[in-house]
Amino acid sequence: MAQELNGKTALVTGATGGLGRAICARLAQAGASVIAADLPQAPIAALVATLGAGSRALHLDVTREEQWQAAFQTCEEDGQKVDILVNNAGIFTPNIPFADMPFDVWKKHFAVNADGTFLGCREAIRHMRGRGGAIVNIASSMGLVALAEAGAYCASKAAVLMTTRVAARSGGPDGIRVNAVLPGAVPTDMLMGNLQAGQQESDLLGTLASYAAMGRLARPEDIAEAVLMLAGPGAAAISGVALPVDCGTIPGG
Ligand SMILES: NC(=O)c1ccc[n+]([C@@H]2O[C@H](COP(=O)([O-])OP(=O)(O)OC[C@H]3O[C@@H](n4cnc5c(N)ncnc54)[C@H](O)[C@@H]3O)[C@@H](O)[C@H]2O)c1
Repeated sequence: MAQELNGKTALVTGATGGLGRAICARLAQAGASVIAADLPQAPIAALVATLGAGSRALHLDVTREEQWQAAFQTCEEDGQKVDILVNNAGIFTPNIPFADMPFDVWKKHFAVNADGTFLGCREAIRHMRGRGGAIVNIASSMGLVALAEAGAYCASKAAVLMTTRVAARSGGPDGIRVNAVLPGAVPTDMLMGNLQAGQQESDLLGTLASYAAMGRLARPEDIAEAVLMLAGPGAAAISGVALPVDCGTIPGG
C-alpha cells in the first residue's frame, strides 16, 4: 500500500462519526499522523487506539473559535505542523418542512456545518502560510439541490461549497489547496436519522440506491478514498473543486 502521506499530519474533525472513522483510518494507512478531533463526549480515545503511533485525540467543538485557535496554537508550541485539515464534522436534522423550521435549528446547522468549516479553513490557512497544505471540506450533494424538508442542511452545505472556493482563492498564493467532497447518501448514523416512523432500513437504503446510476450507495471507505486523493500529492494542481462521490446520482444522471 502506498504511503503517500508519510511525514504528514492530518487533523480530522467529527472523527468518530461514520465518515470520520473511515477518513482517519485511510489517512493513517497512507502514513499520516492523525489528530482525531471531536466533541468531548465522543469516543475519540478508542478510535485513536486503532490509528497507530503518532496519532492523538483532540477535543474540538468546531463552532468555538477559541477552541480552533487553541488547537493550532498547541500544535505550534509542540512543533507539530498540520499539513492536512479535513472539515468533516456536521449535523443534519431531517424532515422539517421549511415553513416549520425553528430558527434555533436553522442557526445550529449553520454554526456546525458552515461556521465550523469557515473557522477551520481560516485557522488552517493562517497556520499553513509559508509552507502550503491541503484542506478538504466535506460538503454534501444536498448543497446543490433544494429539498424543502432539509432546508437548513441544504443551505448550510451550499455555504460550505462557496467557502471552499473563497478559501481556495485565499490560500492559493501560499500553496494551500482547498477542495470539497460531496458525498451522496452514505449509510451512517446521520443517514439513518432519515428513517420515517415504521420504515425499514433496507427500504430507505434501497430507495436511495435506486437514484444512483450505479445502483448502489457510496460507502464511508469511498468517501475516505476521495479525501485521500484530494489531500495527497496526486492532486498538487487541484484546488477549488467540488467532487461528488455518490455513485452517479447528480447531476441529471
Ligand atoms: N452520511 C451521509 O449520507 C452524508 C452525506 C453527505 C454529507 N455528509 C457529511 O459528512 C460528514 C460526516 O457525516 P457522518 O455521516 O459521518 O455523520 P455522523 O453523525 O456519523 O458523524 C458526525 C460527527 O460530527 C461530530 N460533530 C457534531 N457536531 C460537532 C461539533 N459542534 N464539533 C465537532 N464535532 C461535531 C459528531 O460528534 C460526529 O462524530 C458531515 O459533514 C455530513 O454532513 C454525510
